[in-house]
Amino acid sequence: MGTIDDPSDTEVLEESFLSWIDVLILLSVLGIAVYWLFLRKKKESGDSNNIRTFSIEPALLRAVSETGFISKLKSSGRNIVIFYGSQTGTAEEFAARIAKDAGRYGMKAMVSDPEECEMEELTKLSEIDRSLAVFCMATYGEGDPTDNAQEFYQWLQEGAAELAGLRYAVFGLGNKTYEHYNAMGIFVDKKLEEMGATRICEPGMGDDDANIEEDFITWKDKFWASVCEYFNIEKSGEDISVRQYQLIVHTDLPENKIFTGEVARLNSFKTQKPPFDAKNPYLAPVKINRELYKGSRSCMHVELNIANSKIRYESGDHVAVYPTNNPKLVEQLGKLLNVDLDTVISLKNLDEDSSKKYPFPCPCSYRTALLHYIDITSPPRTHVLKEIAEYTTDEEEKQKLKLMGSSSEDGKNLYLEWVVHNCRSIIHILEDLSTARPPLDHLLELLPKLQARYYSISSSPKMYPDSIHLTAVLIEYDTPTGRINHGVATSWLKTKTVDNGNCPTVPIYVRRSQFRLPSKPQTPVIMIGPGTGLAPFRGFIQERHCQKKEDKPVGEMILYFGCRKKSEDFMYEDELQQYVESGTLTKYYLAFSRDQPQKVYVTHLLRQNKEEVWDVIGEKNGHIYVCGDARNMARDVHNIILEVIQEKGGKSRQEAEAYLKRMESQRRYSADVWS
Ligand SMILES: Cc1cc2nc3c(=O)[nH]c(=O)nc-3n(C[C@H](O)[C@H](O)[C@H](O)COP(=O)(O)OP(=O)(O)OC[C@H]3O[C@@H](n4cnc5c(N)ncnc54)[C@H](O)[C@@H]3O)c2cc1C
Ligand SMILES: NC(=O)c1ccc[n+]([C@@H]2O[C@H](COP(=O)([O-])OP(=O)(O)OC[C@H]3O[C@@H](n4cnc5c(N)ncnc54)[C@H](OP(=O)(O)O)[C@@H]3O)[C@@H](O)[C@H]2O)c1
Ligand SMILES: Cc1cc2nc3c(=O)[nH]c(=O)nc-3n(C[C@H](O)[C@H](O)[C@H](O)COP(=O)(O)O)c2cc1C
Repeated sequence: MGTIDDPSDTEVLEESFLSWIDVLILLSVLGIAVYWLFLRKKKESGDSNNIRTFSIEPALLRAVSETGFISKLKSSGRNIVIFYGSQTGTAEEFAARIAKDAGRYGMKAMVSDPEECEMEELTKLSEIDRSLAVFCMATYGEGDPTDNAQEFYQWLQEGAAELAGLRYAVFGLGNKTYEHYNAMGIFVDKKLEEMGATRICEPGMGDDDANIEEDFITWKDKFWASVCEYFNIEKSGEDISVRQYQLIVHTDLPENKIFTGEVARLNSFKTQKPPFDAKNPYLAPVKINRELYKGSRSCMHVELNIANSKIRYESGDHVAVYPTNNPKLVEQLGKLLNVDLDTVISLKNLDEDSSKKYPFPCPCSYRTALLHYIDITSPPRTHVLKEIAEYTTDEEEKQKLKLMGSSSEDGKNLYLEWVVHNCRSIIHILEDLSTARPPLDHLLELLPKLQARYYSISSSPKMYPDSIHLTAVLIEYDTPTGRINHGVATSWLKTKTVDNGNCPTVPIYVRRSQFRLPSKPQTPVIMIGPGTGLAPFRGFIQERHCQKKEDKPVGEMILYFGCRKKSEDFMYEDELQQYVESGTLTKYYLAFSRDQPQKVYVTHLLRQNKEEVWDVIGEKNGHIYVCGDARNMARDVHNIILEVIQEKGGKSRQEAEAYLKRMESQRRYSADVWS
């Protein structure tokens, strides 16, 4: 453990640099814009026009490393490079775990962000003895890459490079509830093979709807077995814990050098400067936070003030919210581990070649790290349990943790039951295993980062240019161990109420989506959005209402909305009624699933109206939108639309599928779904 008191030793971003950095950034943005608009040759493949329902576009600048990854590998004596395509950190975490394992096989690995690399260099990887490239790739939307893998994806689509001699393995991260399951992992694997590379292990496919952790550790074992076979090597080292970061305790840092929850730039919450994006969120004052439900559940209608922020949005965009963990849970964790939470620390990467110097903004206090940067409520992954075992004195507890941290069948089953099914967080684990007491700094290194939560914006900028509305259901559930778990973001948003004119703030940025109304206001639309799936359609309706007031010819708007009980969770009932009366909303179909003995869903009503659906999509060239539950509802709607095209459009199943695919690529069928 080291001590640093001199602020100049820390690598925080200083306010004073901003003026010339701003200029540099502006010039870079201009340069990139010119390059994209005029110089870049786009070789698009046949399906490149496919609709992207989930594209995440924070305006971040690309920071290609000065030295390529090949020279880095060579100069540091490494032979494995692991790339990740990650939006919410899982693929990145998996990549780091593979890298950590490499030492046990006498190999040395490096984790790299494809966005920061010239991926053409893959053609040169075979220059390094026993070299290997691993790709941990997550899929989003309609089989789309993550933001940081967009350019790599395009490069692969072009397929111009010759990759003979490159050895590779792919682990895809996906979720079976989505139509394009693991499409990115599958694409990368196939494309690399087509470009001449050698697959040394069958691709792994992680399913986040089931147990992606189990999929990963099962694949990881197979992967290392293949590596051993391919290179004729054996596992050399023991499973010893290797720390990635060094703890540094600061004793005399001035307050203005210590992060207090900022996402990237020190003091950015004190001096807010546009443009606002994922790395520079805007502290939006809450104007209104009101309850939409009447029963036992809670759903919040939140209005965020964006006046003077220069933030622009469109109906259908998402707002990303950076939440804070519950301070009571943070205190509880501090007590369990007997730590003074006000201690100011940095965790410094021991790997000097890594582009990531710290796991989260440092220096900060333990309290700040636990409140703002670290996920302390999700069930911890198996490698965390394995590491905690080393700090457990009771032999029975130690063996239990070791078993769950292993990839044996018994271990996987115990982990699934004891941690996942019982919804145990790290706090619950430390409560239930009284001798497991890891140092907090090691835990901070192991636990995943706290992620921003996304919400479909439920307003239109035409009606509300100065505010963004969101509609969020409070997550609260009983666990099998008798505890009550609370959703991080929604339980925190619940506390953000306006009190005596005091408006609390919420760090946000807007993420552009492709979920858009047709460009012509007269095009008819069908919107299917049960529960919070109604959110973006509230924005759509407002948008058309404003257009109508401007005397624009506005097309039919048909809404399918469903909730449990009319008297409890029929959100925005009065507003919808008014839009029907004013003629903006042509009609709505309502499915109150629990108001009668048998379930009635939006999908039942849609099935009853096949004639009308075909009239809109087949005769009038209209658009269909689906929002909300990805698990069942979106898939059911998709199948019903296929039936409509077959039955009312007189097409075969195959023709109907092609018809729907075409609708998707023309953005006439769009889904904005989550699970
Ligand atoms: C593109 C997009 C748009 C979205 N739009 C909206 C929206 O408009 N409105 C909205 O309310 N949400 C929306 N969401 C979901 C939202 O982003 C958050 O996931 C949600 O609010 C929960 O966040 P949280 O931090 O409160 O819960 P978390 O702390 O993240 O906890 C949620 C987790 O708890 C677990 N969980 C939840 N319920 C149970 C249960 N009954 N039993 C066991 N485990 C459970 C699940 O693992 C779940 O993932 C959207 C998501 C995406 C990706
Ligand atoms: N990741 C998260 O933490 C998170 C947060 C918010 C929402 N969500 C998910 O988002 C979805 C919407 O949540 P919500 O709370 O807004 O909705 P909700 O109130 O749970 O559901 C809205 C309505 O949809 C009905 N429904 C259930 N299954 C359906 C199906 N297959 N087809 C059509 N309708 C169906 C429900 O009926 P019954 O309930 O009576 O069956 C209810 O009437 C849910 O899937 C939820 O799990 C996830
Ligand atoms: C909005 C959203 C869209 C998604 N779309 C897909 C998809 O089309 N296909 C798929 O297989 N998985 C999809 N997923 C699942 C993610 O790929 C999966 O959760 C993965 O583990 C995320 O990895 P990351 O944390 O590294 O970003 C989606 C997840 C979300 C939240």
